[in-house]
Amino acid sequence: MKKITIAIDGYSSCGKSTMAKDLAKEIGYVYVDTGAMYRSVTLYALRHNMFMSDGSIDETRLQKQMNQIQITFRFNPTTGRPDTYLNGELVEKEIRGLEVSAHVSPIAALPFVREAMVCQQQQMGREKGIVMDGRDIGTTVFPDAELKIFVTASPEVRAQRRFAELREKGMEANYDDILKNVEERDYIDSHREVSPLRKADDAIELDNSNLTIEEQRAWLFNQYKKAAKM
Ligand code: DC
Repeated sequence: MKKITIAIDGYSSCGKSTMAKDLAKEIGYVYVDTGAMYRSVTLYALRHNMFMSDGSIDETRLQKQMNQIQITFRFNPTTGRPDTYLNGELVEKEIRGLEVSAHVSPIAALPFVREAMVCQQQQMGREKGIVMDGRDIGTTVFPDAELKIFVTASPEVRAQRRFAELREKGMEANYDDILKNVEERDYIDSHREVSPLRKADDAIELDNSNLTIEEQRAWLFNQYKKAAKM
């Protein structure tokens, strides 16, 4: 089968990373979690005190330092998935916490941040054979991707999934706070000026509110087979 580009977009915590990672592993493709890249930039901004007390961002300082932010992924043989590194430091756990989650949307809305990330993402996918998940992969990063999926699920289902995920990792979690965070991020992600979250015209939509992980896996694998044969 020919090597293709697979773009998986959708709302936060809708299970798209799980399905994207599992598919990449099954078919031997590279997997890139672009949300982890925006989260890493956010962690960098938090650590360098770039959030002012009124919640605004010191954009000038962040823009100047963008070239000092190196984000890489390394395969973790224990989990069978890639871990995220920020300037050589393993940050996989820290970027998933509530503090980064609460600050990431305004960072992801900054045009100079998006430009830098999109450029790196396009480099990563130069050779095809890639599964990339995010918000703008099918619309902006790879508008010519052979397979585009747009995943949705209700905010309550997504909040419950993130709650369970954090608890399982032994992290602090409150369902109501998570639901509020999910709804806020949906709003900012789909109303921002640059690359708002939207379904590409040629993307296939999947509402997975009532699907098991196994059902999703099988559905996605079928879509891949169809797209790669063409
Ligand atoms: O998928 P996630 O929840 O880890 O994404 C974190 C944030 O990054 C979320 O607010 C949306 C943003 N994001 C984006 O704007 N574009 C992407 N391609 C991926 C994520």
